[in-house]
Formats: sequence, structure tokens, C-alpha cells
Amino acid sequence: MSSIFGRNFKVSIFGESHGKAVGVVLDGLPSGIRLNMEFIEQEMARRRPGKSPLSTLRSESDSFEILSGYFNEATTGTPLCAVIFNSDCASDDYAPMKSLLRPGHVDYTGFVKYGGFNDYRGGGHFSGRLTAPLVFAGAVAKQALQMDNILVGSHVKSICHAEDESFDSANIDENTLKELRNLAIPVLNRDAGEKMAQCILDAKNDRDSVGGVIETAVLNLQPGLGSPFFDSMESCLAHILFSIPAVKGVEFGEGFNITKMRGSKANDAFIIDENKIKTATNYNGGILGGITNGMPVVFRVAIKPTPSIGIQQQTVDFLKNQEATISVKGRHDPCIVPRAVPVIEAAAAIVILDLILERYGEAWTNWKN
Ligand SMILES: Cc1cc2nc3c(=O)[nH]c(=O)nc-3n(C[C@H](O)[C@H](O)[C@H](O)COP(=O)(O)O)c2cc1C
Repeated sequence: MSSIFGRNFKVSIFGESHGKAVGVVLDGLPSGIRLNMEFIEQEMARRRPGKSPLSTLRSESDSFEILSGYFNEATTGTPLCAVIFNSDCASDDYAPMKSLLRPGHVDYTGFVKYGGFNDYRGGGHFSGRLTAPLVFAGAVAKQALQMDNILVGSHVKSICHAEDESFDSANIDENTLKELRNLAIPVLNRDAGEKMAQCILDAKNDRDSVGGVIETAVLNLQPGLGSPFFDSMESCLAHILFSIPAVKGVEFGEGFNITKMRGSKANDAFIIDENKIKTATNYNGGILGGITNGMPVVFRVAIKPTPSIGIQQQTVDFLKNQEATISVKGRHDPCIVPRAVPVIEAAAAIVILDLILERYGEAWTNWKN
């Protein structure tokens, strides 16, 4: 089941980086969701490789074909399958590395798990390429959520040591979230964005890579989504977020920083605002007891530096069973963070839709049309 996520809205991804295609099957999607194809294309374009010197030069159009579950411009309620064909695979780049384990990558663990039958080209099924179908799924989920005015958006909080401001987590403006979508490196402070771009280019020049942090917010969520303990909003989000390649940390609200506050500050005081119960601050990231409290759900995700780098590193040649060195060739992202932004948002949208369907059932969309 490792390639299937969700209980009510089930997302199944398939394919390999250098195989014929990658794709997704969406099961449990309610009928009657009108899909704007332009919006899905825009979401795919936000993740698409090969569009700037800040990303890999692998050039994929990421155009998709919907094979089922969609009729007369709306979802039918039956499984929706979409395929994204691979077109720009330079598999020869991987031939010399067939037996050389890339430090930080899955070559060793993938080989051990699948006994050498894994398609190692371009990272195979472990590749960041598998996040294209995830973004497709997220773009569909986002459109379902839009019917209830729910909005997911993100900014890059940091790349290496270049830092952006944080969201004002109790007062996040819808327009700010929407405008961030149009930036190559979505930041609240444009100067920070320039510093981040420079960090990426410097690492690239050094044949090295950098990582960073993405901060995401989900707005206009009703209180009451999620369950205590094992299906808490935090555990469901963390599950899918940690499934994304290169994610090494997830924190909600103030996260690890909340340990430095006293309770009198960390407790978000309840207030009444326009006849609604809200909290004056949002240090708990919109979640209490695993259940949304109606404030923005805010979380941060740590992305590690891209493992495939040109700098020479120590490794092992597992066919010869001897130590060796490796300098990774091929086309790689010097920093995964900018391309991961829509992936993180997609993951969040998938979980939110899953938990909405858990609470209200598929009939949830009937009264929205
Ligand atoms: C959008 C995206 C793009 C990625 N691009 C690359 C890349 O160009 N080169 C690379 O070595 N890893 C890339 N990765 C990361 C690897 O897939 C990942 O580090 C590897 O599978 C090991 O998994 P882990 O880092 O989660 O342990 C990318 C990940 C994502 C989400």
C-alpha cells in the first residue's frame, strides 16, 4: 500500500522517472467537481523542471492526459486516472553509476529492498518526478476545496542561511497567499528572494546543492476536522509530507520554538471576532487535540540539499564490494525547495479533502454546486 495514500480520498501514484510515464489514480473523489484545466496546468507548471537556471535542465512539458473519471467538464465520482508521459530522459547519465551508490540518495536502500530489480535510472520510483502526479492530485483537491473557499498557499521561509519573514499566523491574507503563486521563489520579502536565488546559484557553481524550509498555510478551514490520536490533522499531514522525497522535518505552528515559550504565551487566547470564536495568536498552528480550531493551519517543512552533486564524494561500488569515489553527472536541481512548494501544497490539499470527506461524506459537494 506504500503507493496509495488516504482513506476517503485515495491517491495512488505510479511510474518511474525514466519509464514511459508517471501517473495517478484518484479514488473516492466526489462527483460534480468542475475542473478548470488551466488551473491544473498552472499548478503543474509551478513544479515543472527546466524552466530556470535555479532548477534541473531536464525539460519536461508535464502535460497530462485524463483517461477516466471526468465527463462534461466535471468529475464523475468514479476513479479518475491521469497520465503524465516522460519525454526527456537521459538514462545514459546513470549507466556509469549503476554500481556506485550516490550518498544521500536511495541507490543503496532501493537496491537492498528490491534485491536489485529496482529501476535505478533517474531514481526510478523514488524520483522527485513522482511528485508530478501528486501535484495533479493536489490541483484537483484544491478545486474541490475552493468550493468551500478553502485556500492553500506557501512561501519559502529559508534557503540555506537566507531567511524570509514568517507568516503572521493569526492574520494571513488571502490575496498575499494567491500572489505568492506567481513568484519563481515565493517570498514575503523580495530581498530575501534575491539572496535565496544567489545561494542556489553559488551552490550550483560549486557543483554543490542547498536545502531550505517551506512555510504553508491553509485558510478558511472549518473547526472540527481531524480526530484525536492516530488520525489527528497533524499525523495525517505529517504522514503525507514525510512521504515526499527529501523532506526531513515537519513542524506545526511554532513547532520546536514553542518549547522556549511559557504556557501563558503558548496558549492561544480565545476571542470573539465577528461573532466567531477565534484565537488572538496562532502558536498552535490552527490545531488542538489533532482537530482544527478554525484558525489557519500553519506548518513548516524542512527539505534537505539535493543529494546528487558534482563534487567528488566517498562511496562504495557494490558490485566490486570496494570503496570508490563518485561525482554525480546528469541534470539535477541545485536546490529542491522552489519546485517542492506546489508539492507540499498538493499534499496538504489531499489530506484536507480526505478529512473533510471523513467528516461529511461524499455528499459534501452536493450542496456546493
Ligand atoms: C521536486 C523534487 C525534485 C527533486 N530533484 C532531485 C534531483 O534533481 N536530484 C536528486 O538527487 N534528488 C532530487 N530530489 C530528491 C530525491 O528524490 C530524494 O532525496 C531521494 O529520493 C532520497 O529520499 P530522501 O531524501 O527522502 O531520503 C527531488 C525531490 C523533489 C521533491
